[in-house]
Amino acid sequence: MLRSHTCGELRAEHADERVTLCGWVQNRRDHGGLLFIDLRDRYGVTQCVLDPDAGEAAEIADRVRLEWVVRVSGSVRLRPENKQNPDRETGAVEIVVDGFEVLSRADPLPVAVTGAERSSEELGLRYRYLEFRRPEVRRALEVRAQVNRIVRDYMHELEFVEVETPILMKSTPEGARDYLVPSRVHPGEFYALPQSPQLLKQILMIGGLDRYWQIARCFRDEDLRADRQPEFTQLDLEMSFVEEEDVQAVMEGLLRRLTSEVAGVELPTPFARMSYADAVETYGTDKPDLRFGLPVRDVTDALSASAFVVFKGAIDAGGRVRCIALAPEYSMSRKQLDALPAVVADRGARGVAWVKVRADGWAGPVAKHLTEAERAALTEATACVDGGTLLFLAGPRSVVEPASGDLRLHLGKAFGLRDPARFEAVWVTEFPMYEVVEETGALVAKHHPFTAPVAEDIPLLETDPASARARAYDLVLNGEEIAGGSIRIHDRAVQGTIFRQLGIDEAEAQERFGFFVEALRYGVPPHGGIASGLDRVAASLAGFEQIRDVIAFPKTTSAADLMSGAPSRVDQAQLDDLHVSLTECAPDDDGASE
Ligand code: AMO
Repeated sequence: MLRSHTCGELRAEHADERVTLCGWVQNRRDHGGLLFIDLRDRYGVTQCVLDPDAGEAAEIADRVRLEWVVRVSGSVRLRPENKQNPDRETGAVEIVVDGFEVLSRADPLPVAVTGAERSSEELGLRYRYLEFRRPEVRRALEVRAQVNRIVRDYMHELEFVEVETPILMKSTPEGARDYLVPSRVHPGEFYALPQSPQLLKQILMIGGLDRYWQIARCFRDEDLRADRQPEFTQLDLEMSFVEEEDVQAVMEGLLRRLTSEVAGVELPTPFARMSYADAVETYGTDKPDLRFGLPVRDVTDALSASAFVVFKGAIDAGGRVRCIALAPEYSMSRKQLDALPAVVADRGARGVAWVKVRADGWAGPVAKHLTEAERAALTEATACVDGGTLLFLAGPRSVVEPASGDLRLHLGKAFGLRDPARFEAVWVTEFPMYEVVEETGALVAKHHPFTAPVAEDIPLLETDPASARARAYDLVLNGEEIAGGSIRIHDRAVQGTIFRQLGIDEAEAQERFGFFVEALRYGVPPHGGIASGLDRVAASLAGFEQIRDVIAFPKTTSAADLMSGAPSRVDQAQLDDLHVSLTECAPDDDGASE
């Protein structure tokens, strides 16, 4: 090693030892001839002192600039008590330097690597490697590595077999667009990068592996958000001869260990369970954040005779009126109330009506439209009390459900109810098998086409498929979906029915997943599994808002890598090799901006 110690290692007990350290110059201060240099590496920062008597070492040190890489030798000295720095682990000592070597010079850095002020997001992504010099940025990767290690230990303890599945594959239907890779040796043919290893893990069960797991990179060409990246990492697992609870128990044990070891929080198990229908009804979303209450109440019945045009219009059109009751301590100013419609506008909601509940007469623009009987019914339905506020959303179910979820989250945030140090996990179960495309009436799989229906709902598949429930479950942590899975179909006939209902005829099934359909003929164990988004898990545990923070080299919301410049054009010869010809596309439209 070029060094005897790291920059985070020296303590009072090392006093008088001779040491050699390597690192980056984080800071230099000239105090009347005495030169102080703070030397930094991954492990910490150590103060080095050069007095003019240090001769050549002092001369060299005098020329160094910030972020140069240097090697210093000297002896450790205990600092006088009033000069010790309690904020730094090495703050009790300093190195009196007598040897100084420059290992590498640095140009002035394009991004700030010290201090509270961060460079712009764009610069930060372009110079991601320089940002790693910041401890808080590096910490995200360290947490990530810790998560991977815990996952690996846990899965091996439970005797899961780690299997690596291919990246160059055929399309897996997870609802996003595929990333395609043209084949050179098969002109006109393409590989698809896996959206997940779904079919392969099911095939491994048919192969008798019994328990499979993998840390799997997945690729989905979809619209990106704070919690989505085009390539992301799943902890993927599958088990044979199991039911929902068996798979859930494995995930619970893992998440419990992760929160305990990474965040120091003991999660009680088993986790809460909530049906999809209840989650949407009470929280306006299938990803409820249970760190706070503010349940959404349906007050359609209480207002069924309302003459108020907003409520009446919605109810007459077959819609709903939903209400969130705020306790007196969450009082809102007129200005805050006026800002609410903007919160729900995206969902197509027309506005947020409100009343202030007062023992001496209700107040606010809607109050005059509410009869005594309606006030009594609302009080009963929402348990509102004197001094509270009622917020209403009225409209079609497809609008007010998600709008009420957004409104609730907004209020949770506005009132500071989303404590980042708290972890509330819940299983959302009994998802519908299908979603109905409004315009065409077509059915699409809510989870994926290999999810088993709830046994008692199998007859519904023929009579009322939209109300059939699936044996699917999502794990939601603090309002974020961190894992999703299901018990799979292991019966060829049922799989055929599902394909047919999804509009996938036999020829298409053969073309898209013929290998899988064939495998279903050779003895399929009942099986199920789950995949957890490790980026989301790591971000939640480490308290980061965006998953890109825990990804070493993330992409922007337009799926660009600002550091390497990917995606980029390729030369004609390469395209020719791949038998690819380009249609017209705008020059320089490289999608690199956010
Ligand atoms: P699903 O599509 O629900 O299920 O994905 C499982 C988990 O992966 C994470 N995730 C993502 N994370 C970051 N960026 C994305 N674009 C992204 N998309 C998904 C989420 C999600 O809960 N094959 C099934 C699993 C199974 O049935 O076993 C699947 O992939 O945390």
